[in-house]
Amino acid sequence: MESAMKSLQLSYGRCASSPLFFKDFYDNFFNSSPLIKQKFIDTDMDAQRGLLRHGLSHLIMYAGGSHAAEMKVDRLAHSHSKTQLDIQPWMYDYWIKALMTTVKMHDRKFDESLSAIWEGALKMGIEKMIKAH
Ligand code: HEM
Repeated sequence: MESAMKSLQLSYGRCASSPLFFKDFYDNFFNSSPLIKQKFIDTDMDAQRGLLRHGLSHLIMYAGGSHAAEMKVDRLAHSHSKTQLDIQPWMYDYWIKALMTTVKMHDRKFDESLSAIWEGALKMGIEKMIKAH
């Protein structure tokens, strides 16, 4: 049987190579709350989709134990903290929900066990980000 980490990487690969994955993620994320949409009012969304592609891969590598990725997640935690972007802790719940909805749309192999692996892995980095707020 594949390890959880391997399954996650393969699932992420299927999503990241699906052309509309990052666009659909932001559509789902913005539709989940007007306060979240408001945060991106001045954002160049073409650039943002590329930044998220990297950020998400760092969260996944951090869950896999990468020290280099941990430093990237620390940097993200800082940029999203109170004195910077001021991303409220509740917004991360919406972020995960929108992400899981989007993974389900783009990964034909998505199922309950894969969903649990994704959520477990992302939680590590997200808890770090929320603590730094
Ligand atoms: C910017 C990733 C969660 C709102 C960024 C950037 C990345 C990123 C890579 C580019 C700038 C930087 O490196 O700091 C992530 C990841 C998240 C996450 C991986 C998962 C935990 C959130 C949440 C919100 C949010 C929950 C809530 C609204 C923003 C905003 C920007 C930003 C407003 C700045 C956009 C701009 O430059 O106009 N994010 N983010 N992020 N993020 Fe996040």
